[in-house]
Amino acid sequence: MSIQTPKIEKKVTVRTLQKLKGKEPITMITAYDALFAQLFNGEVEMILVGDSLNMSFFGKEDTLSATMDQMIYHTQAVCNGATLPLIVFDMPFGTYTNKEQALANAVRVYRETDAQAIKIEGGREKEEIVKHLTANGIAVITHIGLMPQSVRAEGGYRIQGKSEEDIQKLIEDAKILERAGAFAMLLEGMKADAATRITKILSIPTIGIGAGVGTDGQVLVWSDMFGFFEAFKPKFVKEYCDGATLIRKGLETYRNEVKAREFPDDSYSY
Ligand code: KIV
Repeated sequence: MSIQTPKIEKKVTVRTLQKLKGKEPITMITAYDALFAQLFNGEVEMILVGDSLNMSFFGKEDTLSATMDQMIYHTQAVCNGATLPLIVFDMPFGTYTNKEQALANAVRVYRETDAQAIKIEGGREKEEIVKHLTANGIAVITHIGLMPQSVRAEGGYRIQGKSEEDIQKLIEDAKILERAGAFAMLLEGMKADAATRITKILSIPTIGIGAGVGTDGQVLVWSDMFGFFEAFKPKFVKEYCDGATLIRKGLETYRNEVKAREFPDDSYSY
């Protein structure tokens, strides 16, 4: 049985999240449009406008072809819908390959959207980029472990942290990125033990997805957790409702009623 928790009533900032570490689990969900962002407003501390939209909303096989223009459009929509959560812009593949390019694109995010932070994938090789971004006033979340933007290079999605050597590498990456200025870290697709150890070592909050119970917070992709994305269902996704069945049932009823001339009746007519 879960407890009934209060809604979030104040704007969540980077500071709010830092204060939650070690005290209260942080909730994060993805959103891609104003309609759903509005539903999520006040329910979670953070919204990620994830490049996962390239798969769940754009129908591509992976996230790699998402563009800055696409992500900016969706982030503007999310910011129009949600005023309270801290909104994070997921930097698309190939838009932060060096520090100058990363800063130019991050500045564009701040100028053209109300997102408060950006997220980038990568370990120690991103140290200089994170330093440059944070030195120039950008709030950065780093993303380590299973990194979807590396799917083609890695030849698939692979769970990380399976050996002590892997865990040590992840811990070292996490420490380097924290020192470089990241204010939070997303840990994806790794053994629970690895994520727990990273969380204990860092003083910044960690947000897990497929990383077990030991992180400071959790994130799920909304279309996965509400049962809309049917292409594949990863083990770590808990479905909180069966959205696809709900929509299909509603649509079937609508079709039947229109065909039978039951809808619209007088009560829906002027
Ligand atoms: O793009 C995305 O939705 C992500 C998930 C790991 C949350 O990065």
